[in-house]
Amino acid sequence: MKYLLVAGARPNFMKIGPIYKAFSSRRNGPSTADVLLVHTGQHYSRNMSDDFFRDLDIPEPDINLEVGSGSHAEQTARIMMAFEPACLEHHPDWVIVVGDVNSTVACALTSKKLGIRVAHVEAGLRSRDMSMPEEINRLCTDAISDLLFTTDTLAVENLRNEGVAHEKIHFVGNTMIDTLCQKIDHARQLPLPDGLAPGKYAVLTLHRPANVDSPQRLALIIGAINAIADRIPVVFPVHPRTTPRLKEIEIHPRIRIVEPMSYLPFLGLVARSRMVLTDSGGIQEETTVLGIPCLTMRPNTERPITCEIGTNVLVGTDPQRIVREAHWILDGNTRPGAIPEKWDGRAGERIVDVLLNQPAQLSGLSC
Ligand code: UD1
Repeated sequence: MKYLLVAGARPNFMKIGPIYKAFSSRRNGPSTADVLLVHTGQHYSRNMSDDFFRDLDIPEPDINLEVGSGSHAEQTARIMMAFEPACLEHHPDWVIVVGDVNSTVACALTSKKLGIRVAHVEAGLRSRDMSMPEEINRLCTDAISDLLFTTDTLAVENLRNEGVAHEKIHFVGNTMIDTLCQKIDHARQLPLPDGLAPGKYAVLTLHRPANVDSPQRLALIIGAINAIADRIPVVFPVHPRTTPRLKEIEIHPRIRIVEPMSYLPFLGLVARSRMVLTDSGGIQEETTVLGIPCLTMRPNTERPITCEIGTNVLVGTDPQRIVREAHWILDGNTRPGAIPEKWDGRAGERIVDVLLNQPAQLSGLSC
């Protein structure tokens, strides 16, 4: 059997690493020549891509499609046009896609139309917010996938409610948390940025189009963070989408703006912080496992398990609510948090177990 394992954007790299390693560790599994890493090139800057491969010990991609940035239609189309010849050249039995970025849906669609089976890792997450490009990507990818690997039981329920056949769904845990388990000791040993002490700073990330593409919305959120910075310094690694939008906004001197960080330094920063303010998806999960309070500045989340049993609170984008919740934490209050089932560092192993048990497909490429 031959597998193409696809990643395209920053949050994908932590999700493919454990799957690649689980394949490599199988004595009777496929050889490395039969598990090919595909990088679509959706993210391409050194600190959004290459540094992650280095930090995560993932080998250089076998195939780099180098598609770069563009509108959603341009980027998705370019990935599809570049991925199709790769499929025709390598004839995979399975294409494995992860997460919810444009690369995920583009490669799933391309494969399925060629008659290649698709496995989706992190299936079944739903924000119910169709204004999020990621929600559209999740729905489309899940609708056509042959195997759906879920991170939690709520995602299993979502898929069952949508009528997905029981035998396609496998609750395996969270490969991003596999990576965290492998790397946390190393990350904690890295020095913190100058002048920061453990437990005495907050971390901020902001990159959702709904938050950063509107100058008014961004100014309101930064206004709230300015108020929080009166009490605690805030480290803000700024995503390239957000950088140009910050120019017109007044920023508190205790908000430290830094370049996007690669995986290990960022994990080390979060793990020793007092709290995290974010609009990211994956950081909601990482803070839950680390037991760090997380305020998610969005009206909804596709990861409700992190609020139900973890340390995450959805605070929306009302500045007063953001400041109130942050003060509550800084006053010493805590919510007891637990770690979701199967977030135990072994999801990659479970995924490979399922894949290696799949029968060969009788028909070949439909092209
Ligand atoms: C994408 C994903 C989002 C994910 C995020 C993580 C989609 C629809 N969105 O959003 O789900 O949470 O990645 O970062 O797939 N840029 C660079 N260097 C890069 C990549 C991007 O400078 O390596 C800049 C470009 O100006 C680009 C902008 O960032 O236009 C946005 O990048 P893009 O990949 O379109 O979307 P993200 O906001 O990163």
